[in-house]
Amino acid sequence: MTGYPENRLHRLRKTAGIRNLVRETKLSVNDLIFPLFVTHGENIKTEIKSMPGNYQISLDNLPREIGELTSLGIPGVLLFGLPGEKDETGSSASFRHGIVQNAVRVTKDTNPDILVITDLCLCGYTIHGHCGILNGENIDNDKTLDIYIEIALSQASAGSDIIAPSGMMDGQVGIIRKALDTNGYTGTAVMGYSAKYASSFYGPFRAASDSSPSFGDRNSYQIDPANWRMAMREIQEDVDEGADIIMIKPALAYLDIINRARATYNHPIAAYNVSGEFSLIKAGIAAGTLDAKTIILEILTSIKRAGADIIISYHAKEAARWLTEG
Ligand code: PBG
Repeated sequence: MTGYPENRLHRLRKTAGIRNLVRETKLSVNDLIFPLFVTHGENIKTEIKSMPGNYQISLDNLPREIGELTSLGIPGVLLFGLPGEKDETGSSASFRHGIVQNAVRVTKDTNPDILVITDLCLCGYTIHGHCGILNGENIDNDKTLDIYIEIALSQASAGSDIIAPSGMMDGQVGIIRKALDTNGYTGTAVMGYSAKYASSFYGPFRAASDSSPSFGDRNSYQIDPANWRMAMREIQEDVDEGADIIMIKPALAYLDIINRARATYNHPIAAYNVSGEFSLIKAGIAAGTLDAKTIILEILTSIKRAGADIIISYHAKEAARWLTEG
């Protein structure tokens, strides 16, 4: 027997029962991380226009949000802050009581078991909107690392479980790991935004976090979308520098990178289903051309099938509802 008509693959698809039995990839609420944007002020919950269902929220509203995520079974959050002040070097990113640092405390006070991941970058904290500090119009990689150390320590001391540097500076994971270890934070993990592409899919996020570069672009530090070998080198560097988790970002246009990383590394892999990917789908749903539940679960499942263990997604809440209602 070598094929049709003896072989009929339809036999494995005939009923829901057998389809469930032979399903290879099972998406779970445990795979999901929800990004949150926290801001100063009181009683703020402002919907981000291009990202329906996502909000900038003030700290007094954070416990309710964390309560909702907890009751949905979502295991963790990725925190982004909108600071009250910006300067050339992004000083407010490492304030002891900066917006993110305080958000970490409020989150842990609300639910000590929820996993808190803090994005570590300068773009939302600098006047120029670049991810590092500048020397003229160029990024000064090494001086930026000194600042990243301060941010990492402030986030760790506030109680962050996982520090996630997203600025794509060379050496960022290693220098953060070392600073954490020498300051007693050996238990704080590092998730590198290892393969982060210079992507147009970040558009809605930059509006949400007020972090667009005021001039130029991020092509001198983020990866060229045409390159996969370069991504593998970036991941290797993060692995060598002690990253606990490696991340690929964006997810959907880069499933090949997730898959290659899965084949090469034994580290947990996170994939960031970014803002532009989310907005596109939401626009399609709003236009009546896509079915929300099936398209979103299909997308998240495809990211997991490609090899991601952890999926950071703005769809996490709605997906959690569907996944737990069965
Ligand atoms: C900050 C950062 C960005 C995102 C996460 N962290 C934007 C960027 O690099 O411009 C994008 C997230 C998204 O689009 O959902 N460096």
